[in-house]
Amino acid sequence: MIREIFIPGTVVNDTEGSPVQAHGGGILAIGGMYYWYGENKDGANVSAPSGQMDRLDVIGVSCYSSRDLITWKNEGIVLSSRPDDPAHDLHPSQVLERPKVVFCPATEKYVLWAHVDSPDYTKARVGVAISDSPTGPFEYLGSFRPNDEESRDMTVYVDPADGAGYLVYSSEGNATTHITRLAPDFLSVEAKFKRAFEREFREAPALFTWSGKYYMVTSGCTGWDPNPARWHVADAPMGEWVTGGDPCIGDAKGTTFDAQSTFVLPLLSEPDQFIFLADRWHRYNLRDSRYVWLLLDMSSGEPRIGWR
Ligand code: DGJ
Repeated sequence: MIREIFIPGTVVNDTEGSPVQAHGGGILAIGGMYYWYGENKDGANVSAPSGQMDRLDVIGVSCYSSRDLITWKNEGIVLSSRPDDPAHDLHPSQVLERPKVVFCPATEKYVLWAHVDSPDYTKARVGVAISDSPTGPFEYLGSFRPNDEESRDMTVYVDPADGAGYLVYSSEGNATTHITRLAPDFLSVEAKFKRAFEREFREAPALFTWSGKYYMVTSGCTGWDPNPARWHVADAPMGEWVTGGDPCIGDAKGTTFDAQSTFVLPLLSEPDQFIFLADRWHRYNLRDSRYVWLLLDMSSGEPRIGWR
């Protein structure tokens, strides 16, 4: 169905006809529903001092719900910015990116993790929020540097094999990716971490598992501009990650079809097929950034993403 209806790079409207604002996002599939969380960028770009990234004020994390991945109901902003507190991580002047939500069976809570940063990206922390409901509101618990290490682009991943949670984040000046296990309540991280892709400068991690192995798609580090994706494989989330090539097929420009990875969603009815979710950033008008969703096919034994 998605092959016929989702047109990558076009505006995706919600059930009220408004463009979906869920950038750098991810999907939680639970109870027959899909919840799409992402950055709400429904504001105008603000001028950034020279040398800083193009940006807009933080609005919050949006949530949309769907039964079919096509019809998206706007559930509103589930984690809002804090305009009244200039010292708060979520003050509009700050950075809130790449939110991901996981369900913790041990506590029956929904836990939201996101990259929180200062506008010059030197704070490099991860923020955590919690809710009783997938549609929020999420209570912000605070931010930290996992194991005192920088954390910028990130994702959280729950291993379907054993239910363990992991935080995967660009660290060490974005040169090296770290992977650390979440505590059983998914609210903090354990002390041990794995260094992967040492000095390969990867960001935008998106994980999935296939045929007993763990895969990751990442981007390079070129700000809002697209670059070639790469895939990686390991025997375990904190195992030895090996970098493969570019998963994109027929991507003549080598720009991940002008997009950047954010999430990989398994298609449960098709064990070899996944949906690769990526952002086509419009850096001078971030609000109008688009979604590029494509099939990621594992039937050759390696990740392959073609335009369709
Ligand atoms: C690339 C990251 O992947 C995005 O999430 C965002 O931080 C931009 N850089 C900012 O330039």
